[in-house]
Amino acid sequence: MLIVIRDALAILPQGGQDVIDRHSIYIHDGLIVGIDEQPPELAQESAYVIDGTDRLVIPGLINAHTHTYMSMMRNCADDLSFMDWLFNRVDPIEGRMTPEDAYWGSLLGQIEMIRSGTTTFNDMQMHIHQTTKAVRESGMRAVICRGLVGGEYDRSDIRLQQALEEMEEANECSRLSFRLGPHAPYTCGPDYLRMVADVAKEKGLGIHIHLSESVTESENMRKDHNCTPIEYALNAGIFEVPTIAAHCVQVTEKDIEILAQHKVSVVTNPASNMKLGNGFAPVPEMMAAGINVCLGTDGAASNNAQNMFREMGYLSMIHKGTHKTPQCIGASEVFRAATINGARALGLNTGAIETGRKADLAILRLDVASMMPNNNLLAALSYSANGSEVETVIIDGQIVMENRELKTIDEERVYYEIRKMSDHLGL
Ligand code: NI
Repeated sequence: MLIVIRDALAILPQGGQDVIDRHSIYIHDGLIVGIDEQPPELAQESAYVIDGTDRLVIPGLINAHTHTYMSMMRNCADDLSFMDWLFNRVDPIEGRMTPEDAYWGSLLGQIEMIRSGTTTFNDMQMHIHQTTKAVRESGMRAVICRGLVGGEYDRSDIRLQQALEEMEEANECSRLSFRLGPHAPYTCGPDYLRMVADVAKEKGLGIHIHLSESVTESENMRKDHNCTPIEYALNAGIFEVPTIAAHCVQVTEKDIEILAQHKVSVVTNPASNMKLGNGFAPVPEMMAAGINVCLGTDGAASNNAQNMFREMGYLSMIHKGTHKTPQCIGASEVFRAATINGARALGLNTGAIETGRKADLAILRLDVASMMPNNNLLAALSYSANGSEVETVIIDGQIVMENRELKTIDEERVYYEIRKMSDHLGL
């Protein structure tokens, strides 16, 4: 089917700038096939037309670090210190979860993301099979990373073997791709990390890891290994494969140099870092060093939302505030962190409205108070929108939400299952 978004305002990259102008966008076979010009070979094709009056089209947002299965842990592990939160609250709940719980939890997270304009997420989790099933059904694009923990150089590691097998099984869906997800330096010994890096290299997989999230992590690393968590990952060979590092809050100047030199993409998660009392990543400094900084929500157990608009607002505000410099991060940089930078980090042909890219788009209403008076829409995305403006979402050329109605997920059923699960998990 040919889809045409007719005469809408849209944000397009032009000469290194984000330019907002009126365009018609042609979508066919999962791709953006034309802007303002219908490809001649599709002239006979009947078109499904979306009226662009009072609408803004943006590339779908890319949530570059989350744990969707944790969405059912929303608002049940709050106001705790980081290590208390992780080891005394989240881990025991995870231990009680069944694979089916992970399926419904992931769908809950995906509902919230689609409703607020996110089309892709990078998920570190324990249940590949159930999450890939949820992704096949929802129509979202996802990068799935099996969380790994261990101490030895052990290629027969059961979690790793499961991860590799489950990746093979899920390979037939073009919206899914995979990475290895060694959890963090404080849960993975150096030999284990070296083994994961070797396997990633052999299999051509990227790595997704938590690095330098809390002060405790950095202090313990200094005490036990006399280095920073980023030096620890470097020494284990992690940065020899394409790496996405979540958090990078407690980083030194030398750490920033290492990340830049090895082309590590950093995912900043401002809400999660603030809520767990972990502080603020030096995002303007990392951007100035040339690091590809993208944006993520982290899981709902620590955020507690999966809404990238809220995250964009935090990203701009906290650095202006902590640096006492409103110019240190602008609306355009925030928009890129939430779109094209995420696509670059994940190796996806998405994140911008351009002919030939995958058709992952969100259409926002402009005839609502938070977007009025429609004068600087790039600023509106970071500073005044909240995600409720998102009306229609297209992923891989498929309409997954139209006029705020989800086309692929039975929302009521998901909420019914989540309530039931909340009871049996004792949340
Ligand atoms: Ni995380």
